[in-house]
Amino acid sequence: MEKRVYIRTYGCQMNERESESLSVILRNGGYEMVSSEHSANIILLNTCSVREQAEAKAIGKSNLISRGKNREKLVGILGCMAQNLGEILCKKSPNTRLIVGPNRTEKIPTYLDQLLRDKNRRIIDIEMGSIDRDFAAAHDEKKIKASMFVSIMRGCNMHCAYCIVPKTRGPEWYRPMEDIIHEIQWLAERGTKEVTLLGQIVNNYGIQQMPFMDKKSPFVQLLEKVQEIDGICRIRFLSPHPKGFKFDLIDAYGKLSKLCPHVHLPLQSGSDRILKAMRRPYKVEQFSSIITALREIIPTISISTDMIVGFPGETEDDFRATCELFDEIKFDMGFIFKYSIRPGTIAEQFDDHIPQEAKEMRNQILLQKVEYYSRQYNESMIGKVKEVLVESHAKRGEQQLEGYTPEHKKVIFSGTEDLIGQLINIKIEQYGASTLFGKRV
Ligand code: 5AD
Ligand code: SF4
Repeated sequence: MEKRVYIRTYGCQMNERESESLSVILRNGGYEMVSSEHSANIILLNTCSVREQAEAKAIGKSNLISRGKNREKLVGILGCMAQNLGEILCKKSPNTRLIVGPNRTEKIPTYLDQLLRDKNRRIIDIEMGSIDRDFAAAHDEKKIKASMFVSIMRGCNMHCAYCIVPKTRGPEWYRPMEDIIHEIQWLAERGTKEVTLLGQIVNNYGIQQMPFMDKKSPFVQLLEKVQEIDGICRIRFLSPHPKGFKFDLIDAYGKLSKLCPHVHLPLQSGSDRILKAMRRPYKVEQFSSIITALREIIPTISISTDMIVGFPGETEDDFRATCELFDEIKFDMGFIFKYSIRPGTIAEQFDDHIPQEAKEMRNQILLQKVEYYSRQYNESMIGKVKEVLVESHAKRGEQQLEGYTPEHKKVIFSGTEDLIGQLINIKIEQYGASTLFGKRV
């Protein structure tokens, strides 16, 4: 029986990490992982539900696969959209035979075995309870890279009015600290130099179960332990929440040499009125004071964010406040999203929706600001020598490599393949909106 699987991943880094774990579980279950759709007889789409567009893309893809000469392939939908839509997917994507939510990943090999045996069956499992949480630690030993993701928790206990994630991923659950440390040591022994700790709200790690020590939260305790791991040179994390971004974490930037000078801190809106309607439990002033404190410790720290434009009830004044705050903070990177109604969220009930054209216009304005401040930041790097962790060949050009500075700015330079995985010094000579160009020194 053919057992060749191709996994296509949509959505966030958490999904990417889970697809990687899934490939290990599948291989242990006797499946072969392949890198293209056409050489697979099983295609699994690990999906995202965060915006309507993300769902539409994956549904379109599943229907496209199920046509023509691909009709025989077994298609499965996994991840957040599977959890969110469940049974409804049977109508939207009639040829999909496996629908499994993000908490039930461990069951996938067993389900595939059953589906391969019985061609008329369809399996839906969107139970919320996880079966064996240890699967989160599985990495493919042949694919260990210089920079790796490590999940430290799952789920989210917040109630942001726009967000589907608490529904798709359930309540917070934390991995034991020693398991995480063990996993990072294991990666470091195999050449990993940089880890990105992942969670919906990483700075909530352990908050409801583990004690504070010396006024340090469990998350900061975890960072301190990762700092001690030999071979790990850089620590990143995604994403923190402004609410729990307290002085212990801010201080860590001055104390932990491996903590990279970059913070991705989702703001969502620069208007207190909209933040309140979004049920984000902080005010603009609190957000700004975190940034000020971080810049006091590392003046050149890179600050990126997520923003939503066109949330229900967002007036021109609210949007102006967002623009002014953007100009004040000068985020050097940002992801701007047009608000998308998500069924089952609190904001779905709101009736003062913003017309599409206004969302579009606000989106463009903020995108221009992102580009402006990103260029400004990149310009300030010209002439500096930066330590770059070389990750891969660059997409364009022969003998071109790419890697990242500690601030998480992409750098392209000439070099040979043997440099991949190494930390090297690059003098920055040119810049674009989102990329730096330099020369090895
Ligand atoms: N509409 C638009 N953007 C959203 N996000 C989350 N939910 C929505 C939604 N309903 C954005 C937030 C979040 C990022 C991952 O996606 O900015 O930080
Ligand atoms: Fe990730 Fe959220 Fe999309 Fe789920 S809905 S894949 S948690 S971004």
